[in-house]
Amino acid sequence: MIQTMTFKEMILQGIPDQLPNKKSRDDKYSHAPKRKDILTPTEKKLAIANALRYFPASWHAELILEFVEELKVYGRIYMYRFMPDYEMYARPIHEYPAQSKQAAAIMLMIQNNLDPAVAQHPQELITYGGNGAVFQNWAQYLITMKYLAQITDTQTLHMYSGHPMGIFPSSIDAPRVVVTNGMMIPNYSKPEDWERYNAMGVTQYGQMTAGSYMYIGPQGIVHGTTITVMNAFRKKLGAGVSPNGKIFLTAGLGGMSGAQPKAGNIAGCITVCAEVNASAAIKRFEQGWVDKITHNLDELIDIVKEAVSNKEVVSIAYVGNVIDVWERFDIENISVDLGSDQTSLHNPWAGGYYPVGLSFEAANDMMAYHPEQFKELVQASLRRHADAINKHTAKGTYFFDYGNAFLLEASRADADVMHDNHIDFKYPSYVQDILGPMCFDYGFGPFRWVCTSGAHEDLKLTDQIAANVLESMLVNAPVSIAQQLQDNITWIKEAEKNKLVVGSKARILYADAEGRAKIAAAFNEAIGNGTITAPIVIGRDHHDVSGTDSPYRETSNIYDGSKFTADMSIHNVIGDSFRGATWVSIHNGGGVGWGEVSNGGFGLVLDGTDASKTKLENMLFYDVNNGIARRAWARNSGSLEAIEREMKRSPNLTVTIPILVDEKLLQQIQ
Ligand SMILES: NC(=O)c1ccc[n+]([C@@H]2O[C@H](COP(=O)([O-])OP(=O)(O)OC[C@H]3O[C@@H](n4cnc5c(N)ncnc54)[C@H](O)[C@@H]3O)[C@@H](O)[C@H]2O)c1
Repeated sequence: MIQTMTFKEMILQGIPDQLPNKKSRDDKYSHAPKRKDILTPTEKKLAIANALRYFPASWHAELILEFVEELKVYGRIYMYRFMPDYEMYARPIHEYPAQSKQAAAIMLMIQNNLDPAVAQHPQELITYGGNGAVFQNWAQYLITMKYLAQITDTQTLHMYSGHPMGIFPSSIDAPRVVVTNGMMIPNYSKPEDWERYNAMGVTQYGQMTAGSYMYIGPQGIVHGTTITVMNAFRKKLGAGVSPNGKIFLTAGLGGMSGAQPKAGNIAGCITVCAEVNASAAIKRFEQGWVDKITHNLDELIDIVKEAVSNKEVVSIAYVGNVIDVWERFDIENISVDLGSDQTSLHNPWAGGYYPVGLSFEAANDMMAYHPEQFKELVQASLRRHADAINKHTAKGTYFFDYGNAFLLEASRADADVMHDNHIDFKYPSYVQDILGPMCFDYGFGPFRWVCTSGAHEDLKLTDQIAANVLESMLVNAPVSIAQQLQDNITWIKEAEKNKLVVGSKARILYADAEGRAKIAAAFNEAIGNGTITAPIVIGRDHHDVSGTDSPYRETSNIYDGSKFTADMSIHNVIGDSFRGATWVSIHNGGGVGWGEVSNGGFGLVLDGTDASKTKLENMLFYDVNNGIARRAWARNSGSLEAIEREMKRSPNLTVTIPILVDEKLLQQIQ
């Protein structure tokens, strides 16, 4: 009987020997919205046959009814019956049944991504972003965990969009897991294609760190958002000017967007964040991520006016549509210093963006039952949204796109967001103006680590080690990177106090190639000499220097015409895979939407050995410098400086450097 089995036995069993009892989903969790009914009758049969192929034929007659029902009710087949009976969370590494420590670490990372305390829709296997999936269904989860328990250090597991294709012989130096998510023939990469082929059970949207097993809860996004808001204020107000009493107006209190008020508080401003979904807003308020909450626009105005006159640092959630706030602030002449938006416009037709003038519930009904009408309302709202923002920017607001495809979708809706040249947008993306030139071009990006012991003491030690490394680097750092080093030293020293750990014992900071390798080497040494008690997983978000080709986000500050190419991200995962990564992943669609981005990532398990040291040095060097080389070739000045410095430091490196053309010569061309 399943109840008497241990956790290890349940993992090793994979798909249970006996058909488990039917289970329904649990209402205490947030659930993915009903997906639209897109399949033809023939395709529905295919979806059912695809789902049944994971199970013995003797179960098919019973399961077919259930899977038909799930497809009808939810638009997808999640196989709720096969949700495991044990609790889902990242256990200390020694609790996993495994032949390979590397595989055990990956199991820990997978369970963390599905932990209900961490994941957005845990029972639909969605970690964040509304559709960022780890697996498409529970059968894939069960088989993958079993395979990871079986795999040795001379084999590699190949994952096709959540589906474990199999364990193949490889070598000790090969990755243990290779992941692809949502890779499509380019012509079949429209949002409709995701709906169709995901419903058929043959692909999934892996977002960035969801389908690559590298999510670390809200901490990662709080850090990134803090860096962005701080630097945005520096841009608007000038370096050294306090943002106290200045307004940052934005929308979204969901998975990642929920970090905005907390980041605003750390940066020291007044954050006003609109959220249409009352339960999302209340959750963030109850978690202490936002200081005040109101359902009433008049009350919001009073709170904001008082906060401005007292120069407060405060965050306020408004339960309602963000367009109403932009419009009302204009009427009230409330001056917005920074403006942005983090609604899920990478997913505009299926719950990512709620049109103004319609209740949350009515919108949910309309998108499922009248999708064409819903689309029209979304586009009309985007036009109104842009008009309201334009009124504020005319009065001095600094507005930036937060990588959620706001400007892209607004432009597709014919909103007034295009530059006079009819090519560019009126407003920059946060990468064009902030993260690109200040961080990515120099190799600064979201380096993260997870202590697989699960011990708080280990995490504290790693914080100390990382702070020491960054402080030693700051002593001789060039002016161009000193501010980033200092921001991250401050961050890591305060990290424990900010209590951002949810799920696995993880930490994040931004560092460049040299910093990442030095920190990882110091961790490896501490594991080797027993100061740290178990392996550490290092990795990063895909939202980084080299891993992601995304013309409206990560590579939006590439101006040589190559921002619509995806060579860099592909080189990244291939290059990392033979330089020591424990797993690599390449995804279509993370962040800004299916078909809009190619994003790659890695995980590397440090176990304190010399082999680990060689791998980390070799792999991290390439993982960062690949992107700097590409950015330098695109003539980005920060990257030209960074790669020249790297070539001096590393005699084995030769990068092709662009020869700049005199502008006067180009002006002669008619
Ligand atoms: N660049 C980054 O670092 C970065 C970071 C975070 C998020 N993003 C992007 O931002 C988006 C949001 O991510 P998420 O994980 O928070 O998604 P999410 O779906 O969990 O949250 C978005 C929230 O916006 C709310 N919303 C939608 N329309 C609204 C409207 N008109 N007014 C007020 N609220 C509205 C939704 O109810 C939802 O709670 C995604 O597109 C993501 O890719 C980018």
